[in-house]
Amino acid sequence: MSRADDLNATLRRVHPAAALNLSTAGEGLFYPQGIPTQSAEARGCAIDATIGQVTDGHGHALALPAIAEAIAALDFDQATLYAPQGGRPDLRQAWRAHIQADAPAGPGPLTLPVATSGLTHGLCLVATLFARPGGTLLLPDPCWGNYVATFQRVFGARPRTWRLLRERPEPGQALDLDAFRAALAALTEPSTLLLNFPSNPLGYSPTPDEAAAVVQAVDGSPVPLVVVCDDAYQGMVWEPSARRTSLFHDLSRLDPARVLAVKVDGATKELFYFGGRVGFISFGAEGEAAVVLEDKARAAARATISSVSATSQAVLARALASPDLAAQQQAVRERLAGRYRALKDELHRAGLPSLPFNSGMFAMVPVPGDPEGLRKQLLTEGVGVVSLPESRALRLSYGSVSRAEIPGLVRAIARHLG
Ligand SMILES: Cc1ncc(COP(=O)(O)O)c(C=O)c1O
Repeated sequence: MSRADDLNATLRRVHPAAALNLSTAGEGLFYPQGIPTQSAEARGCAIDATIGQVTDGHGHALALPAIAEAIAALDFDQATLYAPQGGRPDLRQAWRAHIQADAPAGPGPLTLPVATSGLTHGLCLVATLFARPGGTLLLPDPCWGNYVATFQRVFGARPRTWRLLRERPEPGQALDLDAFRAALAALTEPSTLLLNFPSNPLGYSPTPDEAAAVVQAVDGSPVPLVVVCDDAYQGMVWEPSARRTSLFHDLSRLDPARVLAVKVDGATKELFYFGGRVGFISFGAEGEAAVVLEDKARAAARATISSVSATSQAVLARALASPDLAAQQQAVRERLAGRYRALKDELHRAGLPSLPFNSGMFAMVPVPGDPEGLRKQLLTEGVGVVSLPESRALRLSYGSVSRAEIPGLVRAIARHLG
């Protein structure tokens, strides 16, 4: 019996009125034993490498001073009255400029971003606009588990996967481009493709050649595609050999008869404003297409959450105007890069194999036996990690552990796998 069946059977017994009125999505939903659950179980561990959130390693925020100052300076009216539908106009303009500043070949087609309640809500708006029951969603394997919850369990789309990494990845040639091309070639109807670089849970970003091959394959798709770039970890790239900027900028230049590029991003990870819950959805479109798509995104936001927190938008708008923001962001990135290098060195020293990682805040360590059993054992030793049984691996987050804790983290795992 699946977990949803189990919950439904209980509800039928204890609350028939609720059970008999469940929607299709309501019937299929159950709270997954995913990252939030595993992270909650690791609370209190001396080393907590579970969550994709940047802390000082002791559970405290590494807030950017620009964000902290903006919180302290909150304007009472701006923070307590409704924010405009679709987001504050000044914030939307500022985020658009923020995206365009990163476009490697100069600004391409880009709508005014619509504010969302975090990236999860941005993805929910993508699904609201483009997911059809039984329609195809092409996902990388491995990928962030919440895509399946939103697109499949709530909206009824059918996920298909392509294997992200080659069987024997080599430096500069890690992506399984053959698997990607084959997955695209097998599509027979208009579909949604989701790309996520730097990726969760792998922590991988493509080289410029790999990125160009991905864009070329998308361009040759046999069916019209909506290509969603989940750019949650935008800019957190630690190797010069990896591409730092979003593939959205290239994808948005493809023929609108065949490709619509959608960018989902936000302040959550990019500006280390995890609890602020401000994200954005933007489209690679211009002219009338931009007007229509923005209208539909605002309508989808209106229908789901109405408007995004005025308080958080006020904070972000002020922080984005700070001339020091880029330097402050860079300082936290450098701290993360230090942890990245320490993790690489320690894994190497311990002889622990890992899958290729070069960006974001995660690394995956293959576990030949039982990853979930190992996770539970590590919990008893005061070490929190995430198990990914389907990938037969552990995911380590170096966002939430200090650099000093990294040797202990690796030693604890190596004791069981070495
Ligand atoms: C790849 C990816 N996309 C989206 C999200 C969700 O972001 P938010 O917390 O802004 O909803 C996460 C969070 O872990 C993530 O890892």
